[in-house]
Amino acid sequence: MKIQTRLTLVLPAVCALALSAAAQNTPKPLPPAATKTGVTYAGDLKAILDKSCVKCHSGDKPKNKLKLDTLEGILAGGRDGKVVIVGDSAKSVIVQAAAHTTEDSDEWMPPAKDAANYPPLTADQVGLLRAWIDQGAK
Ligand code: HEC
Repeated sequence: MKIQTRLTLVLPAVCALALSAAAQNTPKPLPPAATKTGVTYAGDLKAILDKSCVKCHSGDKPKNKLKLDTLEGILAGGRDGKVVIVGDSAKSVIVQAAAHTTEDSDEWMPPAKDAANYPPLTADQVGLLRAWIDQGAK
């Protein structure tokens, strides 16, 4: 086979692969905060985090030293500092990680490779997380 022929066969395949990988890793827009009032960690967030996050972010060796199974833990933050900026959900690392808004998909939570076991947050769940932070993280 001539080199040109091979390239015409291989190049589209490579491009298609690259495109699908890029689509998967494209940052998402930040969902709006929920309009619900009186949002609390115990009443609204705990159940969501238990399902998608707590398996890795609890116990003796929580990932990134970040515990998400208690209100104290989530407010304390992790190895790299606070993940909640009370009153400013858009700037809070936990929101950016859970909403997949960052350019670097390595920062998305749960990690993409574990998505089968730990469901990523829905836009509505991110909205509740935002409302909780904006309302003072009680
Ligand atoms: C399967 C395990 C796993 C699950 C589930 C998981 N994480 Fe993580 N998380 C990690 C690991 C591993 C790191 C450290 C990544 C690194 O250092 O690059 C991390 C780091 C983080 C960080 C970064 C902390 C910092 O200070 O920068 C945040 C925020 C975070 N996770 C939030 C969450 C949230 C919110 C969820 C649920 C929506 C979640 N994680 C679910 C494994 C997990």
